[in-house]
Amino acid sequence: MNQEKFLNKLKKPHAVQRALRRFLFAFPIFDWPFRFLAGLRYSWGIQAEKAPFDLEEHSSYPLISWVNYHQHSILGKQCYWMGHRALKNPLDAWIYQEIIYQVRPDYIVEIGNANGGTTLFLANICDLLNHGSIIGLDIDHSIFGVKHPRIELITGDCSSPEILETVRRKVQGKKVLVIHDAEHTRGAVLRDLRLYAPLVSVGSYLIVEDSFEGLKGFNYGRGDKVGVFAIRNPDTPLQAIEEFIQDNPEFIIDRSRERYILTANYKGFLKRVR
Ligand SMILES: C[S@@+](CC[C@H](N)C(=O)[O-])C[C@H]1O[C@@H](n2cnc3c(N)ncnc32)[C@H](O)[C@@H]1O
Repeated sequence: MNQEKFLNKLKKPHAVQRALRRFLFAFPIFDWPFRFLAGLRYSWGIQAEKAPFDLEEHSSYPLISWVNYHQHSILGKQCYWMGHRALKNPLDAWIYQEIIYQVRPDYIVEIGNANGGTTLFLANICDLLNHGSIIGLDIDHSIFGVKHPRIELITGDCSSPEILETVRRKVQGKKVLVIHDAEHTRGAVLRDLRLYAPLVSVGSYLIVEDSFEGLKGFNYGRGDKVGVFAIRNPDTPLQAIEEFIQDNPEFIIDRSRERYILTANYKGFLKRVR
């Protein structure tokens, strides 16, 4: 077993960890010591470390290097919303906030929730608007650690007809925003976009996460260096978007949502215009 495989294995939640997470999720009253310790560790870490990516030192780096740095050094371990891990580029989260404010969806369907930090973020934005509910759809909610009255979970494969029908029934006649952040291969994303696009309301968005994986220079390995992929990886959400948009003229790619440049959703903010 090489080192990379060994590290990946370590990252998979151990059965005891899973059981503890389930217990804490069921009885959140026992959660506070863990949150307290996690908070201490987090703030000590931040204070103790020197800036890991010094802006002046790296001022001539290409933008894609920042993307790789964020993906590999930040996303997996240092990106939190209210203490919950969120696999989200914070600049994209700001754009989410703008879209939610403008669209005021009744339902946000987040396909792929992982730990739930982003799901909670969406619910908290809805709190500020005093409007909207979140459907958190994931094939496996065992690491999901969030509870909020606006969040309703549906557990199952998003491509299964029963799951799609369950979601469709819930959101029928409502203003709906869909975020796709599940399996990131071209085929899976294209399949899911075709299934969930009809749920998106006119004027609202179908957001496709992690299309930047298809960019030249995106690094699938560790570190911030420009790419393992000196050519475009042909099996990413980006190719799914390019194919989907050709057959679905009711959607346009709203490039204005990429104005911070450093987005995980390159060409991924699809607006339904009719
Ligand atoms: C990148 S993570 C989601 C991250 C989350 N949206 C966030 O911002 O923190 C991808 C998630 O998609 C889920 N997933 C993968 N394939 C799926 C499928 N076919 N149906 C539903 N969920 C799926 C995985 O279980 C995983 O939790």
